[in-house]
Amino acid sequence: MTMRITPSILNADLANLTGEIARIPSADGVHIDVMDNHFVPNLTIGLPVVESIRSGTDMFLDIHLMIAEVDRWAPAFADAGCESVTFHVEASDAPIKTARELRSLGARASMALRPATPIEPYADMLGELDMVLLMTVEPGFGGQKFLDLVLPKIRRTRELIAKTGGDIWLQVDGGVSVDTIERCAEAGADTFVAGSAVYGAQDADAMVIALREQAVAVCAH
Ligand code: DX5
Ligand code: ZN
Repeated sequence: MTMRITPSILNADLANLTGEIARIPSADGVHIDVMDNHFVPNLTIGLPVVESIRSGTDMFLDIHLMIAEVDRWAPAFADAGCESVTFHVEASDAPIKTARELRSLGARASMALRPATPIEPYADMLGELDMVLLMTVEPGFGGQKFLDLVLPKIRRTRELIAKTGGDIWLQVDGGVSVDTIERCAEAGADTFVAGSAVYGAQDADAMVIALREQAVAVCAH
């Protein structure tokens, strides 16, 4: 299984995004947290900033939309040339329609679940998705403590994905670090967001490499 590290720039220097992204050349993508102060109690960056990031880097852009009315907004991020667009199922009235629209615009379609949202109701629509994001903290802020209670859901999601036979990535987001990544990989995650762990490290790129090595080592056992 390929293990991917997609660092979140939420806790990076937001006034110097191009420079901050250049610090992590070994990453498999950049995770960008879009928040609207409605779906989550925090406000970050929106489409115009993402468009500027796009024009300044060839890096795989992994957009995590934590916004209300996401069905209306998500396609614009695919239109802007982002490779992967994640919408929260709790904010979507039409997840299948949105996933199909994202794919038709050439983006990978991804669906996110808050820690307390079960995966089972969505088992039959996994084939519409290229990735499932399981939040391992309540969305809204970086630097929170990893929620171990999500581990059984990671396991169940991996089993459901295996049943589809498709190559659907399973991403975890929130509190992922050298202390928690192994648990996530053991449970079946293959794509890891790490914000404060990477940007809080002295050498951000070395941390990306260390995290990937840990995940790969678990997978090899
Ligand atoms: C939280 C965001 C995460 C966050 C991760 O709502 O979705 O991407 O920035 O940051 P850490 O790794 O510090 O938990
Ligand atoms: Zn995120």
